[in-house]
Amino acid sequence: MKIFLDTAEVADIRKYAAWGVIDGVTTNPSLIAKSGRVFEEVIEEICSIVDGPISAEVTSVETEGMVEEGTRLAGIHENVVIKVPLIPTGLAATKALAAKGIKTNVTLCFSATQALLAAKAGATMVSPFIGRLDDLGERGMALIEDIVRTFRNYPTLKTEVLVASIRNTDHVRQAALLGADISTIPPKIMDKMVGHHMTDKGLAAFLADWETRATGAPTS
Ligand code: E4P
Repeated sequence: MKIFLDTAEVADIRKYAAWGVIDGVTTNPSLIAKSGRVFEEVIEEICSIVDGPISAEVTSVETEGMVEEGTRLAGIHENVVIKVPLIPTGLAATKALAAKGIKTNVTLCFSATQALLAAKAGATMVSPFIGRLDDLGERGMALIEDIVRTFRNYPTLKTEVLVASIRNTDHVRQAALLGADISTIPPKIMDKMVGHHMTDKGLAAFLADWETRATGAPTS
């Protein structure tokens, strides 16, 4: 499973990119606003840090505006993927952007039938938001299961399943077990994924034992 970072904070992106495990980055208008920086500048900087798909979201809700915005954003860097909302005009924009050879990430997906439409429109990726479904008392991971199974039934559909709105490490574990193509993970969940108290305890014991080793006589 590919791991994307779900953030527009370049300091975080540098930190986790240094681990050597980041395949891409997703942003959205809320994350860009939170960064306090100019949209295009952030996207350009992220592209200079991570060599993989970098999602930049359009804010127009009309097909023509989305295509225009998407075409402009795609010009920032060859790795930019245009994030388009899963609404009727977004499907038409996805089709038009695909015809221009521009990759898309169709976002705000909350049902398997929406995902099917995104795939039919030629989306490169579709982003089901599992945490927001969990917040409603539904089981977000059931949606991932449905979409993965649906796409497997039709091998001509090439759209990748990008698990979004991840809230905990178990979401990542389950997404991987289900065979989702990508999980986009917030920085704080990355820390939780790598940390384990037994790793820390074991390392401390190894280092303490190392200090008690025999060193032998110095050779001349
Ligand atoms: C990523 O592409 C999504 O925009 C993001 O995962 C949404 O997460 P949230 O539900 O925590 O805002």
